[in-house]
Amino acid sequence: MYYKEWLEAGKLQRIVLVIMSKATNEVLERWNFSIETDGEVVEKGVSREKSDKEIMREIQAIMRQIASSITYLPCLDEPCIFDVLAYTDTDVAVPFTWTESDPKLIANPQMVKLHSFDTKIHKVDTMVSYKNDEWDDQ
Ligand SMILES: *[C@@H]1O[C@H](CO)[C@@H](O)[C@H](O)[C@H]1NC(C)=O
Repeated sequence: MYYKEWLEAGKLQRIVLVIMSKATNEVLERWNFSIETDGEVVEKGVSREKSDKEIMREIQAIMRQIASSITYLPCLDEPCIFDVLAYTDTDVAVPFTWTESDPKLIANPQMVKLHSFDTKIHKVDTMVSYKNDEWDDQ
């Protein structure tokens, strides 16, 4: 699993989950998980203490936020496809079946920032952008 190696080496900067219309390929939702790695931990093997329980609690809080995002995200009422984008340092080996991608940005999106969680090695910030329907109506 590439992600795991990249994470452990501190070379994964961001994972983006893109949800698109199957019919038009238009990007409807873009989940931006940005990852900050504590370089000292990776390079020098410095250990930082945080209990698994505490980390699980933070992850659960984010899961709850993602689940409740259904209340404000526009309803996906058409068949959708998704894509995962990985932003890495330039010196990583990329599987040859993967291709370079454009960032698949949404023009003038609505954005909501979710809680972050921190394992003391990686800090993950989550942000969801989605199509601004009001903008279309103007
Ligand atoms: C994704 O998150 C990173 C870090 O917070 C930020 O620099 C970047 O601009 C975000 N991208 C989008 C499209 O929101």
